[in-house]
Amino acid sequence: MTDDPYILAQQAAEALRRKLGDVDHHAAIVLGSGWGPAVDKIGETVAEVSITEIPGFPATTVLGHKGVFRSVQAGDRRIVVMAGRVHLYEGHPPAKVVHGVRSMVLAGAKIVVLTNACGGLRPGMKPGEPVLIRDHINFTGVSPLTGPNPDALGPRFVDLTDCYAPRLRQAAQALDPALTEGVYVGFPGPMFETPAEIGMVGRWGGDMVGMSTVLEAIAARHLGAEVLGLALVTNLAAGLPGANFDHEEILEVARATAERMGGLFHDLVRAI
Ligand code: HPA
Repeated sequence: MTDDPYILAQQAAEALRRKLGDVDHHAAIVLGSGWGPAVDKIGETVAEVSITEIPGFPATTVLGHKGVFRSVQAGDRRIVVMAGRVHLYEGHPPAKVVHGVRSMVLAGAKIVVLTNACGGLRPGMKPGEPVLIRDHINFTGVSPLTGPNPDALGPRFVDLTDCYAPRLRQAAQALDPALTEGVYVGFPGPMFETPAEIGMVGRWGGDMVGMSTVLEAIAARHLGAEVLGLALVTNLAAGLPGANFDHEEILEVARATAERMGGLFHDLVRAI
């Protein structure tokens, strides 16, 4: 098997098209912790394939993640959903972390919706609050674009101004005017941040912290896809009064809110 990440993503894209019905998926959605119930409301699943049947994926390990791609009918559109995100903290290199996003974009998805669970630090944020990602700070120290660049697929130096498409954020806010926007800071994990790190993030202008999303957003922009990011505040960040890091409670907050977000997802994939 090749170890060129772009050739591998092309092979995975072909496999996805073979297994999910040879159709163009309008958008790709990456499911973050607990987001399953929201996406279940989009429409009927018409095809499903385990990521183990698609070239290039590691076996996933993290609690609450089951590795599948689903093709969902949303009105007259098809949407591809990836459940079972790959994280840096599992020990995988950046190319593996973004392999799913690359594969779905190369299979035809021109919009990538990234969902996640995060810690919130902006004053007033509460567990259970969904926030649109307006911008990010990549504090992982790595990039999925390091290495040879396939110029036919994307530019060597990628412009990340408006990485999270204003058009898509406006569409989401038109459907749910209560949605606020924030800056997401991506940490490598797997440990939660220290209170001093959260103090630093606040001074940088960050509103949320998490362990995913930023590398996938970069890879999607590199291939020319539009990106929408939805972060769900599952807990207040380290050092804040009321901060809580119980993994089960974080998943439970995510599940309860995701249920409420089902209507937004249903309408969003039809509107964008
Ligand atoms: N920090 C980092 N990642 C997270 C958090 C957090 O507080 N909550 C959920 N994912």
